[in-house]
Amino acid sequence: MQVHLRDNGEIMANGDQLKALFRSFAEGDDRHFYSVAMQMAAHEAKQGHGKLAEELRDLLDAAKSRRNAGAAGAADGAIPLARPKGELASLLSVSYPSSRLSDMVLAQPLLAGLQRVLKEQRHLSKLRSHGLHPRRKLLLVGPSGTGKTMTAAALAGELGIPLFVVRLDALITKFMGESAAKLRQVFDAVASTRGVYFFDEFDAIGSQRGMANDVGEIRRILNSFLLMIEQDESSSVIVAATNHVDILDDALFRRFDDLVEYQLPSADEIRALLRMRLGSYLKSAKSISALTTEAVGLSHAEITRAVGDAVKEAVMHDQVSVPADDVKILLQQRQAVRRRTPVAKA
Ligand SMILES: Nc1ncnc2c1ncn2[C@@H]1O[C@H](COP(=O)(O)OP(=O)(O)O)[C@@H](O)[C@H]1O
Ligand SMILES: [Mg+2]
Repeated sequence: MQVHLRDNGEIMANGDQLKALFRSFAEGDDRHFYSVAMQMAAHEAKQGHGKLAEELRDLLDAAKSRRNAGAAGAADGAIPLARPKGELASLLSVSYPSSRLSDMVLAQPLLAGLQRVLKEQRHLSKLRSHGLHPRRKLLLVGPSGTGKTMTAAALAGELGIPLFVVRLDALITKFMGESAAKLRQVFDAVASTRGVYFFDEFDAIGSQRGMANDVGEIRRILNSFLLMIEQDESSSVIVAATNHVDILDDALFRRFDDLVEYQLPSADEIRALLRMRLGSYLKSAKSISALTTEAVGLSHAEITRAVGDAVKEAVMHDQVSVPADDVKILLQQRQAVRRRTPVAKA
């Protein structure tokens, strides 16, 4: 099938290519999108449209390098539908995650809480038309490596909306007025483009090095952040995360619709995580139980990394299974690192 896209009847692209292009875009599969687009450019060249082919390639290269430059924290992002422009581009990095809550191991009450958020989001307009407020301002609290960042991505993936990671390092400058203005820009984006807006380690706002030492000023920035959250009436989902439980107080909590608390995985959760991460590489229930004991006290992230390392070894040696002892050693190494590192209070 050929598709005619231009008035003058020139044949521009093959229908299958167009479908592949749209599909890869919808799935957030950047690499595929790029390769199909390059094929289309090559097709144009073959048709004798050298100038057009060249322009297409230039456009793609420009898009690619711009994204690579701004992709910190969003390395697997899709070609953005909603690309922040101007100064905003340095404050927000956008991606279209494909992750789901089912990719995570979550304690039952936590999962139920997140599913409730999704359900209310899916009925956004219905709830609003009845004067009700769907939950959309979440505070995620808990130790590092338990899935807070992953949750923000999974919420965006489940809802099919972009994930905007707010770059606090770029937001906070030495100049109080400037930071406030940047914060305002971010919240304007929250209101104008629906997405999941993720403020990771948001309690760092106001405590950055290089900031004026004036305690009053620091508190004012954090307060203006909280006030903007409170005043926001958009359709976006605002997710703030912190590893520090001790910062929680009523004044903070009342700006959010939900407090979601993360914990190190229980034995059952460790078992589920090991099963998920080991997949077909290690199926023996007995081995998994033994490894579970070794992993108690580690975070989801530490367990994921230990298993990932073991699986990588197997793949590099063309093996289809992972020896349980290898995983055990890697878990023990993680335990040793954890013992040496002062654990952030959580
Ligand atoms: N609850 C979880 N279930 C499954 N994997 C997890 C979970 N929490 C963390 N991970 C793994 O660890 C990685 C880092 O977790 P992350 O979401 O960055 O933790 P946090 O933001 O709480 O520090 C994730 O990308 C994922 O591979
Ligand atoms: Mg995180």
